[in-house]
Amino acid sequence: MFRNAAAICLHLVGPLWGQKSGASLTRCLHQTLAMAKRLQARRLDGIDHNPWVEFVKLASEADVVNLGQGFPDFPPPDFALEAFQHAVSGDFMLNQYTKAFGYPPLTKILASFFGKLLGQELDPLKNVLVTVGAYGALFTAFQALVDEGDEVIIIEPFFDCYEPMTLMAGGLPVFVSLKPSPAQDGELDSSSNWQLDPMELASKFTPRTKALVLNTPNNPLGKVFSKPELELVASLCQQHDVVCIADEVYQWLVYDQYQHISIASLPGMWERTLTVGSAGKTFSATGWKVGWVLGPDRLLRHLRTVHQNSVFHCPTQAQAAVAQSFEREQLHFGQPSSYFVQLPQAVQRSRDHMVQSLQSVGLRPIVPQGSYFLIIDVSDFKKKMPDLPGAADEPYDRRFVKWMIKNKGLMAIPVSIFFSLPHQKLFDHYIRFCFMKDESTLQAMDEKLQKWKEGLRP
Ligand SMILES: Cc1ncc(COP(=O)(O)O)c(C=O)c1O
Repeated sequence: MFRNAAAICLHLVGPLWGQKSGASLTRCLHQTLAMAKRLQARRLDGIDHNPWVEFVKLASEADVVNLGQGFPDFPPPDFALEAFQHAVSGDFMLNQYTKAFGYPPLTKILASFFGKLLGQELDPLKNVLVTVGAYGALFTAFQALVDEGDEVIIIEPFFDCYEPMTLMAGGLPVFVSLKPSPAQDGELDSSSNWQLDPMELASKFTPRTKALVLNTPNNPLGKVFSKPELELVASLCQQHDVVCIADEVYQWLVYDQYQHISIASLPGMWERTLTVGSAGKTFSATGWKVGWVLGPDRLLRHLRTVHQNSVFHCPTQAQAAVAQSFEREQLHFGQPSSYFVQLPQAVQRSRDHMVQSLQSVGLRPIVPQGSYFLIIDVSDFKKKMPDLPGAADEPYDRRFVKWMIKNKGLMAIPVSIFFSLPHQKLFDHYIRFCFMKDESTLQAMDEKLQKWKEGLRP
């Protein structure tokens, strides 16, 4: 192979030989030989194309209201901002490394705060690991537990990093879809109508199943799993000795009468569950990138090994700010002054605003029970204008979003990217909007929608 590459190179520069060709021949040979060696690790095969890059770029086009990406465009609460300022301007030692597995005041408050919610006595040193965002917690968990050939059950639609993280660890993702049932007459579609088929879920468990990823409240659908649904997942995990990776980053963002339940709080589940959280989602500060994972020492000790040998340590000042914010919340817990009480009330108003606006122009939102997001059923458009520009094999929702950005000035995320490849065509008639937005952004959305509606009039 190398000999062939060198021969091609000689052929190309042959006519130059005798001029300044000595140096260029050497350079060419060097480049050819360097290129002949495989560069990227095999674990990146199949995951190197990320649709987010394309859609995030489209959002930066002029005059587009960005309802695509999941971050608040309003400030975190004052007490959290003050905590960060205090961390930056106070004790100079907060500029230095702290304990690798978490700044002690943070692991302490996380242990006491979540210990009460999970009904466990948590040891800050053994049951808590602070990570670079929830992303870091998830990556560490997959690396620590998933072996070559292990199967990981992923419930669709799913936060898209679960699949590449499973693959990078050498695992095999096994998908099971939540399926929608029609809304009752006169009722709005709700994320609660999307359910797992218990028989189908049970059929996915095999002797190779190592873990199941459960995301509640779910991104992108906004589904909040009910107690019976969690009990079903819990009993299958126990029956097949499977670890549950519970991604609960939106746990405080639950609306109407619904309630978030941590699967780790169900009988027999603490010992086999990793509960993942995010300060970014908790305090509306996604740029802080502080996350955590809670679990029994028998699981967490392996995550600590990965953490110790990869990132080792998360920024101390951000951890200090999160610690102080949780200390404040612990004092206000359950009271009207608590951010965890106020935030869902405010965000529910934004959700309702968006639902009403979308309906008023004839779009069909599926009302989410929780999270930052709602999805919209665009199957009517698919029937009316099936031939939107784009490659024939490109899922409809991707073409629809590109069309909508260009023609309507609204940015969403196509929902098929939250499904495995074989299922994308089945779920290519939904788009995701984020309603964790300032009133001014929602008003800008209203204006775009009203113009869209006027365009529909004869
Ligand atoms: C379901 C889910 N899990 C994890 C994350 C990552 O959170 P973080 O920003 O703390 O890394 C996100 C972010 O969008 C998410 O939606």
